[in-house]
Amino acid sequence: MKNKQSLFHQKKKLLKEAGCDDYKESAKRLFSKAFGKSLAQCYNYQIHEGSNEKAALFSEMVSRRAVGVPTSHIVRSRSFWKNDFHVNGTVLDPRPESELIIDVTKNLLFDGMRVLDLGCGSGCIGISLYKENPNITLFLSDFSKKALSLAKRNAEELKADCEFIHSDLFSNINNKFDLIVTNLPYIAKDDFCYLQREIILHEPHEALYGGRSGLCLIKLFLDGVNRHLNKNGVFVIEFGKGQDFQLKEELLRSNFNKVFFYKDLNNVSRVACVKKDT
Ligand SMILES: C[S@@+](CC[C@H](N)C(=O)[O-])C[C@H]1O[C@@H](n2cnc3c(N)ncnc32)[C@H](O)[C@@H]1O
Repeated sequence: MKNKQSLFHQKKKLLKEAGCDDYKESAKRLFSKAFGKSLAQCYNYQIHEGSNEKAALFSEMVSRRAVGVPTSHIVRSRSFWKNDFHVNGTVLDPRPESELIIDVTKNLLFDGMRVLDLGCGSGCIGISLYKENPNITLFLSDFSKKALSLAKRNAEELKADCEFIHSDLFSNINNKFDLIVTNLPYIAKDDFCYLQREIILHEPHEALYGGRSGLCLIKLFLDGVNRHLNKNGVFVIEFGKGQDFQLKEELLRSNFNKVFFYKDLNNVSRVACVKKDT
């Protein structure tokens, strides 16, 4: 077996040549998964023991990455906020920009607060909030049964006590909440073909596609959300780049006047925090 350093560099180069944008990060994550070492150990290359099987596993993982399989699907997990979440092709890969929802809401949490994560996917948003305050009462909903079952697995492993609701938006939800967080699909029909090939091929389209304008599901959400918020309730919603103006108009049309917009780390307006008006 080659020494690990040269193997690592050779595979990193291979990923770069295969056009993998995040080749450095991918190589490190795959290496760390195959060899069972932490990323920090990989960065320092202070690893000398190993085996041919692990090297073969690393090479096989790199080959899958080189043909476009997302790294998270190969290692079957993705880190989000402070935890790792199981992911697979049935849910959207948690995105770093969605962590802004946690940033915006973590200081609003109080003991006994009823929180709904609508369109929970892997459960990353709701479960991260629970980990910030385990005394909230958490509900996770999605219209995909497969997503809900993965969210259940994540909740069990991360010891988050929550209820699961199979529902198309609010159709099967009868309760009211103090906080609703949601990251519904918002990619517009005309923008869909500009998504990375890897996303189109490996992520569920029903987790991405937001109808002709991108805001179709969000508008339906706005139609129902007020009925499901307690007095002084708040909802926090993620939206796509450049959709803030249109969203603001929709919010005003639905009589939501207390709206705060937040920008992500790339200075893109990404999340709106909306207070119930009455
Ligand atoms: C953009 S993904 C977000 C997943 C997760 N919350 C996250 O941030 O990674 C959107 C999620 O909404 C769900 N979804 C799409 N349409 C829905 C609907 N009509 N009712 C409930 N959930 C829906 C999808 O199954 C998917 O899990």
